[in-house]
Amino acid sequence: MSALRSWFKERVPLSLVQMREMTNEPVPTHMKRWWWCLGGTPAYLFVVQIFTGIMLAFYYEPSPQTAYESVRHITEEVAFGWFLRSMHKWAATLMIAAVILHQIRIYFTGAYRKPRELNWMIGCCILLCTLVIGFTGYSLVYEQLSYWGATVGANISDTVPFVGGFLKKMMLAGESYNEQTLPRFYILHAAVLPATLVLLLVIHIGLIRLHGVTEYRFEDEPDDHPTHYNFFPDHFMTELLIGLVLMILLCVLSTVFPAHMGPPADPLTTPEVIKPEWFFYVTFRWLKLFSGTVAVLSMGFIVFVMFIWPFIDGWIRKVWPRSEASVWVGLLGAALIIGLTVWEALVAH
Ligand code: HEM
Repeated sequence: MSALRSWFKERVPLSLVQMREMTNEPVPTHMKRWWWCLGGTPAYLFVVQIFTGIMLAFYYEPSPQTAYESVRHITEEVAFGWFLRSMHKWAATLMIAAVILHQIRIYFTGAYRKPRELNWMIGCCILLCTLVIGFTGYSLVYEQLSYWGATVGANISDTVPFVGGFLKKMMLAGESYNEQTLPRFYILHAAVLPATLVLLLVIHIGLIRLHGVTEYRFEDEPDDHPTHYNFFPDHFMTELLIGLVLMILLCVLSTVFPAHMGPPADPLTTPEVIKPEWFFYVTFRWLKLFSGTVAVLSMGFIVFVMFIWPFIDGWIRKVWPRSEASVWVGLLGAALIIGLTVWEALVAH
């Protein structure tokens, strides 16, 4: 055994002490609470997505003639296919919810402020990438809403001034939905976007490691309260426990509310109601409230403000140090998002 260990050590000259030093950075005590260490939750769900996605890819066939039938085969005939498909769908929903909650926590605790502005912007790219993975994923089933959702999405891109036509063509691989569209969505969903997300996460976590997480002191914390604890094994165990709870939640949701299939895509029959997934309700309602180009441009402007918010906030704090503008802007933004989402959820059209 010791001969084997020294053989291995010669080839991988990493000592346990070095490994400890690399991973065992002290973590501020507030990270013991889920709300404060929420970043681990979407990371965990992303791993579930990759695993279940690879399993589904063994059976999924990305062409308009075969996609729907292959998803039906996975759902009804492949051993535990229904379970893996449901896990993939629920983990996607929870991942998007977790990314949004994490961003809300970062926003309202001011963790995006100097020197973390760039990491906030990387985070915004992560959010957009996650949403597009969701959008392309729902288009793969080739049911009515997949087809019409993709068509509506492409028509919305078309209203962007100057580059709209190009965006639509890139998205659909042509002027309208055709044989090449579904394979294009598949390659984006299963290769390009996950690889981009991995790259963004490496930069995100790298920057967190370089800066360390923001330190907070709470008023009700006694002075002799320890301010830090070890990453390994203490924080590792917290994350492991969160992972276990998430796994139980995913299994329960997938079993009680398994993924169903809607009617197959019919390019000749527009459905009476076209609704995207819940995470696009806000965008959809916004598009219904304003006309094409105005809606798209105003939305682009809001996303741009979100990207550069740390700099706007820095400027406001310099000019009006006591204004708490970020809290009011955040509350207004949250009220708008929740209001538009609930509105869209409640109405048929
Ligand atoms: C898959 C998506 C994401 C993952 C896996 C992730 C992961 C993490 C992790 C593990 C942390 C350490 C603190 C914590 O656990 O809360 C963190 C912190 C941070 N995240 Fe994310 N994140 C994601 C998305 C986002 C988004 C969408 C934003 C904002 C737009 C963002 C901005 C930040 C910032 C600024 C920090 C530093 C917080 C501090 O210093 O306290 N992240 N992230």
